[in-house]
Amino acid sequence: MSASVLRKALICSAVLALLAVLSSCGVFTGIDYTGRVTFDRALPIPPVQDGVIDEEGRRVFSLTAQEGAAELRSGFQTQTWGFNGDHLGPTLRAQPGDHVRVNVTNRLGEATSVHWHGMRLPAEMDGGPHQEVQPGGSWHPEWVIDQPAATLWYHPHPHGATEKHVYRGLAGLFLVDEAVPGLPSEYGVDDVPLIVQDKQLDGSGQLATSGSAPVGTLGETILTNGVEGAFFDATTEKVRLRLLNGSTARILTFAFDDEREFAHIATDGGLLEAPRVTGQLTLSPGERAEVVVQLAPGEDVMLQSHPTPGFWLGAPSGLSDRFDIMQIRAAPELQPADDLPDELARIDWLRADDAVTTRPMRLSNRSINGKEMDMNRIDDVILAGSTEIWTVSAADGFPHNFHIHDVQFQVLDVDGAPPAPHLRGWKDTILLEPQKEHRLIMRFGRHTNPDVPYMYHCHLLRHEDEGMMGQFVVVAPGQGAGHIDGHHH
Ligand code: C2O
Ligand code: CU
Ligand code: CU
Repeated sequence: MSASVLRKALICSAVLALLAVLSSCGVFTGIDYTGRVTFDRALPIPPVQDGVIDEEGRRVFSLTAQEGAAELRSGFQTQTWGFNGDHLGPTLRAQPGDHVRVNVTNRLGEATSVHWHGMRLPAEMDGGPHQEVQPGGSWHPEWVIDQPAATLWYHPHPHGATEKHVYRGLAGLFLVDEAVPGLPSEYGVDDVPLIVQDKQLDGSGQLATSGSAPVGTLGETILTNGVEGAFFDATTEKVRLRLLNGSTARILTFAFDDEREFAHIATDGGLLEAPRVTGQLTLSPGERAEVVVQLAPGEDVMLQSHPTPGFWLGAPSGLSDRFDIMQIRAAPELQPADDLPDELARIDWLRADDAVTTRPMRLSNRSINGKEMDMNRIDDVILAGSTEIWTVSAADGFPHNFHIHDVQFQVLDVDGAPPAPHLRGWKDTILLEPQKEHRLIMRFGRHTNPDVPYMYHCHLLRHEDEGMMGQFVVVAPGQGAGHIDGHHH
């Protein structure tokens, strides 16, 4: 064998060995984590708060951000943060039309905030980085609920530190609640909140953030409502799951181990027009969905996450991994359930002709339209009540999603094609298909304030913290952008 042939053979086998190592650690194929965890802990159900009606008729809630410790993994005490407890927060519940107020207290050692993700409200109440609450301080936002029934959520949004605060455990659901005949609605029994998050736990069970996936921190441990290895005891033939992907970076594709189909009934901002039968549903960080699963007496079924289709070389971002999420154990006898209604809600479809402005939003390299987040810069000025189209694209080849505060939007098309069926409802967060143009249409609210902005951003929280965020104000006719004060970062 000549030297050059030998050298080629060596290089070739080195490359093959490297490829083998890369693929065995999941760079191309993803990692299959199923079957590794014992599902033997009863699913905790976050306590529900209906608030207290005060003398002015307001429904008043209380949230205190605090430090604590929780058994995320069996046998380990993890240092965590929570609202009104050690980890996560209560489910807040109110009806459309309610005047709500929240007494927020910060007992952490650093500033935080509480943002009402998916809620239409005045910018001063939004809980973004301009409404931080100092340690020991409090904040009392109030607003009138002006949107249909939906599974919303709340979480901190402090400047540059959202990932850390959410990852430590500060998150909870906010249900805008309205009875729909035929839908399971008994909280914790057949209407089950499910906050799904991935975590990295180190050898002593503490939260770690090592590793450098292009999307941020990816964990190998999946928690449901704060615990690993949970089962839910179902007592009814139909169970409604309110799914929140509360991860900081991990994109999840929900499916069952037996590939059974289920009914998808709601997107981020409310019910679909009609139930839609599917076998899998992708939610990126921040997105919610409601689904109804049909059970047979005595069976066990595992809710899982399956590989997410549509991304080239998605494995380094965790898109090809598989996980067990939660086991559902059906009782030997199940309470019968009604058939799902054929019609769930009426959706007011926005018309492209009504849009007064089109704004491009190009996400790449921690910036939007080439600009990184600046607390003192207003990027967009929007007329109250107007309809706009935003054309959103992810241009750098990495996974991103896009979230807009204050509005729920509809997807007009994706690269000219009609949106996938799971996107045909009200959305506030959308996973972006790489290199494609997503035309989103939305109608802005009537709350105006030229000086206090709302945010739009990638909801992969590392990306958001690192600058992939912009600010808009909503103004009255004839008003221009105001002046942001109080911040000089
Ligand atoms: Cu859920 Cu601006 O975020
Ligand atoms: Cu939000
Ligand atoms: Cu991103």
